[in-house]
Amino acid sequence: MGAAAQEQVRGGFTARYGAEPDGIWAAPGRVNLIGEHTDYNDGFVMPFALPHQAVAAVSRRADGVLRLHSADIGGDPVELRVADLAPESDRSWTAYPSGVVWALREAGHEITGADVHLASTVPSGAGLSSSAALEVVVALALNDLYGLGLRGRQLARLCQRAENVYVGAPVGIMDQTAAACCEAGHALFLDTRDLAQRQIPFDLAAEGMRLLVVDTQVKHSHSEGEYGKRRAGCERGAALLGVAALRDVAVDELDAALERLADDEEAQRLVRHIVTENARVERVVALLEAGDTRAIGPVLVAGHASLRDDFRISCPELDLVVDTALASGALGARMTGGGFGGSAIVLVEAADVDGVTKAVEGAFADAGFTAPRVFEAVPSAGARRLA
Ligand code: GLA
Repeated sequence: MGAAAQEQVRGGFTARYGAEPDGIWAAPGRVNLIGEHTDYNDGFVMPFALPHQAVAAVSRRADGVLRLHSADIGGDPVELRVADLAPESDRSWTAYPSGVVWALREAGHEITGADVHLASTVPSGAGLSSSAALEVVVALALNDLYGLGLRGRQLARLCQRAENVYVGAPVGIMDQTAAACCEAGHALFLDTRDLAQRQIPFDLAAEGMRLLVVDTQVKHSHSEGEYGKRRAGCERGAALLGVAALRDVAVDELDAALERLADDEEAQRLVRHIVTENARVERVVALLEAGDTRAIGPVLVAGHASLRDDFRISCPELDLVVDTALASGALGARMTGGGFGGSAIVLVEAADVDGVTKAVEGAFADAGFTAPRVFEAVPSAGARRLA
C-alpha cells in the first residue's frame, strides 16, 4: 500500500475518533489457483494473496466499547458493547469485525474494546475474499494491541469461527489462512486438515506469463443456500463411504467409491469433483516445483470442467470467460472461489494479455452481459502491520 493511502486511513481514523490510532494493519484478498471446495473436505488448496487489501487503523479501549467505521460504507461509527456481541445478531458488514472480537473473547482472550476504522480495495461479492480480509486485519490488529501472541493459523481458525458461527456462513478455512499466511511471490500450498503449509514460488512474470483475474460482476453470497448444500452433500458422501472426510478417498480409490454410490448420482458427482480436485492441486504443485509452469494450464481447465459439470457451481458468465480465453490463446482458465458468479482466472503468455482481454470483453458485450473487470494478479504479501 502506498504511503498516501496509508495516511488516508490514518486521517480517516483521526477524523472519526479525534486521536491518532495505536497502529495500522493490512490483510489481502486472494485468488485460488486450484483446489476449490476442497477445504471443508479436509483437502488441499493453493491460494495466493492479491495486492488488494483491507487496511485497519485501530486503537485499544478499556471501557468495553467497540466502535467500527468503514470509509467504504460511510456514515457514523457503529457503537457496540463487547459483552453484548451475540452470534447472528447482525446482518451488516460490521458482523465481520465484531464477529472476530466475539470469537477472540469466546476463546478466552480479554478484549476490552477498540476503535476501528477500515478501508478496503478488495472488491466485495467478487469471490476474492473481501470478508476474510476484513476479519483477518481486525484479528491481527487485536492480536498485536492485546499482546495475544497468536500465530497466523490460529488467527485464521478464529476468523473462520467468527464467520461460521457469528456471521452464519458455513465457509472453510482457505480464505482466512490465505489472508493470514500468504507471502509475496508465492502461492500457498495448504493442507486444510492440519493447516500444514508450503510456500511455492510463483513468479509468472519471470517466465513471460501473466495471471488475469476477470471479475464477472455477477454477485454471489455464501450464506445463501447453495454453498451450504454442496457442503452438506459432501459430508453425506463421506458418511456413505465411511470416511471422516472426502480427503480420505485417494484418486485410485475413486472408481470403487463411485461404484458404492451407484444409486446416488448427486453424491457421485460431488465426490468425483473433490477427489479429482485434490489430485489436481498435487499435480499443480508438482509441475510448479519442476519448473513446468505452462503445463498447469490444462489442469486449471480440467478443474473448471469439474466445477461446472460435477459440482455445478459455475454460471454462464464464468463459462464464457473460460471458453473465450481458451479460444483466444490462453494457456488455462477456470472459475475461482465459491462460484455462482464472482471471478475467473486466466493464465496467459505476456504477449497475449491484450488479445485475450479484448476477446473476453467482446464476448461479454455480444452476450449482453455487464462488462467484466479485468486485472492482473501478482502474488502479494499476507497480513502485516504497516505502522
Ligand atoms: C469460499 C469459501 C472457502 C472455500 C471456497 C471454495 O471462498 O470461503 O472456504 O470453500 O469458497 O473453494
